[in-house]
Amino acid sequence: MEIKTKKIVVAISGASGSLYAKRLLDNLVPTQNQIAIVMSEHAAQIWNEELDGFDIKKYDRPIFGIRDFNVPFVSGSNAWDACVVIPASMGMIGRIAHGYSDDVIARTADVQMKERKQLILVPRETPYNLIHLENMRLLALAGAMIFPATPSFYSKPKTLEEAVDTVIARILDHLGVENTLRQRWKG
Ligand SMILES: Cc1cc2nc3c(=O)[nH]c(=O)nc-3n(C[C@H](O)[C@H](O)[C@H](O)COP(=O)(O)O)c2cc1C
Repeated sequence: MEIKTKKIVVAISGASGSLYAKRLLDNLVPTQNQIAIVMSEHAAQIWNEELDGFDIKKYDRPIFGIRDFNVPFVSGSNAWDACVVIPASMGMIGRIAHGYSDDVIARTADVQMKERKQLILVPRETPYNLIHLENMRLLALAGAMIFPATPSFYSKPKTLEEAVDTVIARILDHLGVENTLRQRWKG
């Protein structure tokens, strides 16, 4: 039986929480998924600081800069199955919400929504101001899924990674990617 390869853009913007992007990449199965990584300049800086220089090139996936429009998924004619912006900065949320498709992440998100493809936004900010909230409201209305970087605790996570994985498991569920991270609430 042929397994359909899902094409997923993992877009990393400049918010704290690089570990969320790392754990998503750790759990996307190479044989099941075609992955491209897009990273903003701020994201690269924060990634290096928060993950102590862990080399993202180790994933052996194509990595594109935010100004490199030479990628297929910025065109509606070649939209990919899903895009996850993880973590999503409030700056990026604002640019996506208002159609500033002037960088690869904002444009890819724009394409996903206009082509009615999956767009998952993982915002990381606290507290939110009214502009953040209104932008997320607009994005939800436009078809994006707002998926806050908010761990659950009923599985009693013992490490930062385990806490982050409670969010990643739910994202993988929505992407339709099989995973062993799931610890479902059994009542
Ligand atoms: C160390 C550091 C941490 C940051 N953390 C956040 C954050 O958690 N959430 C957020 O919305 N912006 C955060 N910012 C600000 C964004 O990086 C900044 O607004 C940037 O312009 C966002 O653009 P980008 O999404 O294209 O990277 C942080 C910046 C730095 C330098």
